[in-house]
Amino acid sequence: MAMMKEVPDERGRYGSFGGRYVPETLIPALDELSVAYEQAKHDPAFHQELDALLKDYVGRPTPLRRADRLSEKLGFDVYLKREDLNHTGAHKINNTMGQILLARRMGKSRIIAETGAGQHGVATATAAALFGLKAQVYMGEEDVKRQALNVYRMQLLGAEVIPVSSGSKTLKDATNEAIRDWVTNVRTTFYVIGSVVGPHPYPMMVRDFQSVIGKEARQQFQNLTGTLPTHIVAPVGGGSNSMGVFYAFRNDPVALIGVEAAGSGIETGKHAATITVGMKGILHGSLSYLLQDDDGQIMPAHSISAGLDYPGVGPEHAYFHDIGRARYDAITDKEALAAFHQLSELEGIIPALESAHAVAWVIKEQDPLREQQARVLINLSGRGDKDIDSVRDYEEGHHD
Ligand SMILES: Cc1ncc(COP(=O)(O)O)c(C=O)c1O
Repeated sequence: MAMMKEVPDERGRYGSFGGRYVPETLIPALDELSVAYEQAKHDPAFHQELDALLKDYVGRPTPLRRADRLSEKLGFDVYLKREDLNHTGAHKINNTMGQILLARRMGKSRIIAETGAGQHGVATATAAALFGLKAQVYMGEEDVKRQALNVYRMQLLGAEVIPVSSGSKTLKDATNEAIRDWVTNVRTTFYVIGSVVGPHPYPMMVRDFQSVIGKEARQQFQNLTGTLPTHIVAPVGGGSNSMGVFYAFRNDPVALIGVEAAGSGIETGKHAATITVGMKGILHGSLSYLLQDDDGQIMPAHSISAGLDYPGVGPEHAYFHDIGRARYDAITDKEALAAFHQLSELEGIIPALESAHAVAWVIKEQDPLREQQARVLINLSGRGDKDIDSVRDYEEGHHD
């Protein structure tokens, strides 16, 4: 297999995607961040501190294990990379630890973040508490309601949660507010972005911090089986856990599958299947695929899973899609819920609804996967405790 071209280029482009589409006032801040990140990247002391935190505070490496009963049932091997076992319950903390160390290096005293499911907000609040920094987290009112547990967790950790009532009152709107705040307070404030989205250097930086998932998984899979997986499957909201696990395998003969949210069904228009049906456009500082109408207005996304409920996607995924390096498919709320129950009952693991989308894809595609005797690695990006109320509400509301 030919080696892939390294992206992004020096302008932060992934093919035609990515870049920096921001107000002029933010360009110096993005330049300052790029320089600080490049210096940190080449500083062994930065990596030593980050690695020690990931090991002793976050609990890495996370285990990788064969899901025996699920494998039995499907008739091929399924392995789970257990990002749900990280401190705070999801992969998000891999990135917030890196960005908070960078904020401290840059002498920034105030931290802001956006959050959808609340996992990134909790991870940011946690890292800020650890270093005695003040954090303010923007969260759409809709998400404040459906992720009440995570709101309380952030408050317990000393962060202020700022509800956002504009637009669809979800992650897109929370991100708009966070960017607005950053433009105003750029000298003192570090904006911790939670996925591989936003203007350069964020998509690259978040990918690099999350690539610990794939580095570990590649080694663990080889130790366990003597070979590589045939397929890697991960849910895609903004795209950070998926890019984190894909990246170490990009030059391997391994199929990479990103699973988006089909919500109530693609045909209903109520979904978050950005790559599957989106068009090129600009959102939150970079060019990528987007859900938009014929006039270029951003369309509201829908998913039962707050972490996938975003009308955009990271530019590197748009690039992977266009060059054919990864495949993107979509799973409905209903299919994800069925998988949520199956994994709970078969493996004793209650997955995050986001992660349940990846499990559902494997269940849905079981016939061709069985035929190939596939070895499938699922990135279990988070645990489902935060989703239990949503699942109960949904199922009680849909009782026939
Ligand atoms: C557990 C979990 N998985 C996946 C996601 C989706 O984000 P990303 O695509 O950046 O990994 C989220 C976002 O909140 C999440 O909490």
